[in-house]
Amino acid sequence: MKNLTTLKELDLEEITHLLDRAEAFKQGEKKSYANCVFANLFFEPSTRTQNSFIMAQKKLGIQDINLNPEASSIKKGETLYDTVKTFEAIGVSGVVIRASEVRYYEELVGKLNIPVLNGGDGAGDHPTQSLLDLMTIREEFGRLEGLKVLILGDIRFSRVAKTNIEVMRRLGMEVFICAPEPLKDPAYDYIDCNEAFAKVDVAMLLRVQHERHEHRMNMTQEEYLTSYGLNKTRYAEMQEHAIIMHPAPFNRGWEIDGDLVESPKSRIFKQMENGVYVRMAVIERALDHA
Ligand code: CP
Repeated sequence: MKNLTTLKELDLEEITHLLDRAEAFKQGEKKSYANCVFANLFFEPSTRTQNSFIMAQKKLGIQDINLNPEASSIKKGETLYDTVKTFEAIGVSGVVIRASEVRYYEELVGKLNIPVLNGGDGAGDHPTQSLLDLMTIREEFGRLEGLKVLILGDIRFSRVAKTNIEVMRRLGMEVFICAPEPLKDPAYDYIDCNEAFAKVDVAMLLRVQHERHEHRMNMTQEEYLTSYGLNKTRYAEMQEHAIIMHPAPFNRGWEIDGDLVESPKSRIFKQMENGVYVRMAVIERALDHA
């Protein structure tokens, strides 16, 4: 059963193969899974992940069911496990799940006959986001190994940061991390943000996840942008070839100056475009090895 719960369980060959398949779909390769239905179970809000999974399903000829948790029996106390078993029983071919519990998938894996694709587990992992990030970087530079990446901002609450730091280091990329004190995860070493922008190939900004903070940071928007975000001064310091990435949604004026979201160095909307093809590759892997 080819679940995709975390990239840690994929070796580098499998990761490269997924990126190659995503690129093939982007170049126009067609594949069709008639009679397949996927259920998308999003218990946390999502615009990009849920809808690009839906788009990927449609491009692969797959029908989609999208659970509205507010109108489901979750509201009567039904568990995640019983909900997913219900979708398995009614005949879906796979499920995509986003939930706030870190490693929610552990209660599912091994107990289902359909694949589970992780659309994000709390502050744990976001495997398809990392794959689309890697695809975007590889498209830009033609390689991954040896590139210097700065990941900057809300490291503590970011599943994107955690997944990317692990997989990028495994791929031979040099990852620099910068965060304000309250948003640091003690698992990592940090550098001074001021030194970082001029030397990296990729600056990856992270959304300040206000909704996950018990208390708002003791910092104004302007202070945050100047100290821990990308403003126009830092943009000007970046190398000619360097690019900006952000998983989005972005807080314009917090981690990124609003004018820079669509600047020449920005690949933010390219990331979203690539998300569809990466999710096609992940669904293909799940269904072809079911
Ligand atoms: N990047 C990302 O996961 O966006 P959504 O929360 O909109 O899915």
